[in-house]
Amino acid sequence: MAIKKIGVLTSGGDGPGMNAAIRSVVRCSLSNGLEVSGIMRGYQGLIDEEIIRLNHRSVSNIINRGGTILKTARSKEFKTEEGQKQALATLKKHSIEVLVVIGGDGSYRGAQELSEKYNIPTIGLPGTIDNDLCGTDQTIGCNTAVNTALESIDKIRDTAHSMERIFVIEVMGNHSGYIALEVAVGAGAEDVIIPERPFDYDLLCQNILRGNKLGKISWMIIVAEGAAKAYDVSDTIKKMTGLETRFVVLGHVQRGGTPVSADRILATRLGAQAVDLLMKGESGKAVGVLQGEVNVVDLSRACKRENDHIDEYLELIKLLR
Ligand code: F6P
Repeated sequence: MAIKKIGVLTSGGDGPGMNAAIRSVVRCSLSNGLEVSGIMRGYQGLIDEEIIRLNHRSVSNIINRGGTILKTARSKEFKTEEGQKQALATLKKHSIEVLVVIGGDGSYRGAQELSEKYNIPTIGLPGTIDNDLCGTDQTIGCNTAVNTALESIDKIRDTAHSMERIFVIEVMGNHSGYIALEVAVGAGAEDVIIPERPFDYDLLCQNILRGNKLGKISWMIIVAEGAAKAYDVSDTIKKMTGLETRFVVLGHVQRGGTPVSADRILATRLGAQAVDLLMKGESGKAVGVLQGEVNVVDLSRACKRENDHIDEYLELIKLLR
């Protein structure tokens, strides 16, 4: 039976490009004669029945905006049976037959439950700055986040170099060292600390002291937030080397701002693909782009991926130090 109404929500941490994805889902759906409901605040909005009607104009002038017009949240309630039942009741009440979920691994798990446990046709779109999902080379937002962090780190380099200091810079990534590795290579940092690999303070400090003897006085060390805290790393280096050290936590600036072209284009391609799949009766899938081509995987296989380039990047950073 042909579907009449589609719902779209953003969930988990926002990322630049989510608005471009919403726009694509909304306009492709409308072009195919579907009605579109926007669900506010992710899964929580399904529980609280925060549903809005979306039309062409609702998504005008958002392709270039960071954040998400639908707002987003991490819903604890949706993890409970009762929360899910309430969400289901909202879908039924508003005649929302199929759903597009834009978010990271937690959001994908919710989408998988809706699809498998409750038979709601659901497609996931990878929206997270962490770039840690399977089935896609990049997630929506990760490119912009890396560029935002780089912009700040370039500025830190100016002062680090001028004042001959060691800087420890903390970037986002609780379980994922993606941003840390990208910016470490892109900014020409001397070292990087990521959650996926063990880290040796003795070796780091030996390298700093050896470099110091050869006249290399300024260092930039990138830390992913889940691996260590910049303050602790900076303090330990200061104690172990006696050299002047400062730390910076870049924090949530990395989640905001105008999405770069790669994120907008990815989001737009994937939004269209999600609508197409739902119209063909598909469910429980995540869409992505692998080696330039649109790619579809089961949601069960899309959650959590370790970056393929960790060891290559670590080696590169060592080599270029
Ligand atoms: O969305 C992913 C992410 O930005 C991670 O990189 C980070 O660890 C986490 O979200 C921070 O979440 P919150 O904004 O809830 O503190």
